[in-house]
Amino acid sequence: MRTSQFLDRYGPWALVTGASDGIGRAFASDLANRGLNLILVARRAGILSEFARDLRLRSNIECEVRALDLGDSKALLDLCKEMSDRPIGLLVAAAGFGTSGAFLQTSTMDELDQIDVNCRAVMALCKTCAPGMAQRGRGGMVLLSSIVAFQGVPRASNYAATKAYVQTLAEGLAHELSVQGIDVLACAPGPVSSGFADRAGMRLGATVSTSIVAQETLHALGKRSLVRPGFLSKLLGYSLMTAPRSLRVRIMTQIMSGMTAHRRSS
Ligand SMILES: NC(=O)c1ccc[n+]([C@@H]2O[C@H](COP(=O)([O-])OP(=O)(O)OC[C@H]3O[C@@H](n4cnc5c(N)ncnc54)[C@H](OP(=O)(O)O)[C@@H]3O)[C@@H](O)[C@H]2O)c1
Repeated sequence: MRTSQFLDRYGPWALVTGASDGIGRAFASDLANRGLNLILVARRAGILSEFARDLRLRSNIECEVRALDLGDSKALLDLCKEMSDRPIGLLVAAAGFGTSGAFLQTSTMDELDQIDVNCRAVMALCKTCAPGMAQRGRGGMVLLSSIVAFQGVPRASNYAATKAYVQTLAEGLAHELSVQGIDVLACAPGPVSSGFADRAGMRLGATVSTSIVAQETLHALGKRSLVRPGFLSKLLGYSLMTAPRSLRVRIMTQIMSGMTAHRRSS
């Protein structure tokens, strides 16, 4: 899609969560290059403000910052209320985090927070942006799923379950909202080089860059409802696709065991 067509279809504003780092930041950068005005959401105000200033200078766009915790109910609802009046043509829901290790030992508060940020906030923002998009008869939503979304993943059971929620939400909305002119896309990467793994206590092997994830995903937007960016996610995704679910869980047990081997005692 040419830049002017992209802008017509998904402009004038994009709301990008998780924009201070990793995949969300790469999306924001790519969207700025395409001329969309941006509202950047994450908790770290300083990083967001500096990034917004760079994007304004570099791409001559309008760029606003909302520094807040999406796991905080009040902050989330305030953001939704404010955004419901804004002409958001594209939502990129990239904020999220993972946990890993023995379920018996992870923190209950972290697991609950993960459900709030990875699932609750994503659904609330879809619900906020959809009515305006439907009214205008155009728009898009990119929801960050993962390769772990398609089966249970021991030692990251709750994280995988949050991504299964996002994947299922995106699949349903893609079908339901297409008649309103809204393109919904689930983005299911494999390992990506970002701050994610450190925060999740995982060690990744081969990774794909955040810019490839953004680039392949925005290329797929409007063409299909699922994109697997990067070689590894395609290889794993397509080779596991026909395997019985129980076998996929066993394979994921091995993969996650390798990713958390450095914390074997936990
Ligand atoms: N990296 C991978 O290997 C991988 C693979 C598949 C899927 N994904 C998914 O991709 C998404 C982005 O991951 P990433 O790799 O970009 O991770 P990342 O580098 O750790 O970035 C996560 C982003 O989310 C924001 N965030 C986290 N908790 C938040 C909260 N409570 N409120 C507001 N913002 C919050 C962070 O900003 P602040 O810290 O400033 O709040 C940061 O901007 C996640 O949903 C993840 O599940 C990642």
